Amino acid sequence: MKNKIAILPGDGIGPEVMNEALKVLNVISIKNNLNFKFNTGLVGASAIDAEGTPFPDSTKKICDNSDAILFGAIGDPKYDNNPKAKVRPEDGLLEMRKYLGLYANIRPVKTYDSLIDYSPIKKKIVSGTNFIVYRELTGGIYFGNKGISDDRTNAYDTCSYEIKEIERISHLAFKEAQKRKKELTLIDKANVLETSRLWREVVQSISKIYPDIKVSFLFVDNAAMKIITNPNDFDVILTENMFGDIITDEASVITGSLGMLPSASIGENISMYEPIHGSYPQATGKGIANPMAMILSVAMMLNHSFDMKKEADIIEKAVEDGLLNNIVTEDINKENSYSTSQVGDWISNKVKDLLL
Ligand code: IPM
Ligand code: MG
Repeated sequence: MKNKIAILPGDGIGPEVMNEALKVLNVISIKNNLNFKFNTGLVGASAIDAEGTPFPDSTKKICDNSDAILFGAIGDPKYDNNPKAKVRPEDGLLEMRKYLGLYANIRPVKTYDSLIDYSPIKKKIVSGTNFIVYRELTGGIYFGNKGISDDRTNAYDTCSYEIKEIERISHLAFKEAQKRKKELTLIDKANVLETSRLWREVVQSISKIYPDIKVSFLFVDNAAMKIITNPNDFDVILTENMFGDIITDEASVITGSLGMLPSASIGENISMYEPIHGSYPQATGKGIANPMAMILSVAMMLNHSFDMKKEADIIEKAVEDGLLNNIVTEDINKENSYSTSQVGDWISNKVKDLLL
């Protein structure tokens, strides 16, 4: 039976929110006699500090021997303003994605009624938003040839895609659309980029296998606008690596709840689950980080990697109940807030009750 989980808390608030996710997992493990086995590894800036590299061999080994990976966050401001840094925490994440073949990054974006007033967008526009982004994660400009001339006067990054890289994520996205409103939007820049024209060709050809899905195409600049003006028009969004990076950050704030959004990075053999909020260094050690996105990442993990939809639904319900009862951190309610661990305690207790 699958039960081995790699725990990579990472940097900043990563370890704090991970603690709360583990409370929830432990409750489920004990209640359901699952005997989950956790193996903790270093990644990101904390790994550079300890071992000189952001994705050390010891962590690779833990990942190789696990059934799923839970990831907190990486990043440290001491690297951000130093373009000449030889090694950066983010390299660890990119290396992990490539090494583990995590080719599809899935980011659901949905509004919670109780948080709608936090959205920077008018309530009537954002209300009811519920879409999911499938972002390609191991190709494109992130991983193409790159370089800089010796005199540092010229630099280049290359965007390149193979048909098979486009195909595998497209199938996942089409299958997801079949479970939802049956609408898929490919976001690209086919009026300018050759790679985008290849994406369009491949998606058009794959769409014949899924005749029940309505496919549309949007240029990324136009899409950036539509996500703000008409977020309800989207169901499943499919896109390449860098466009996906940019539009998922944009999408994450329209619901007013950056601290609420989980994500999954799906691979052929193993998948990784992480909140999208990043390491949030300003909040580190203060006990104010919102653990809900990390806890919802556990729900995604149970659903995708362990086939435990019932438990995943229970976690989502417990988080929603927490919101309704105002058991929230200060990003959601400044006047009357709970600490990271109080929110985690409340949700794990709720999960315990709901599991009965
Ligand atoms: C993300 C992040 C990463 C990316 C960084 C940290 C390398 O922004 O997961 O979206 O660009 O993919
Ligand atoms: Mg990003």
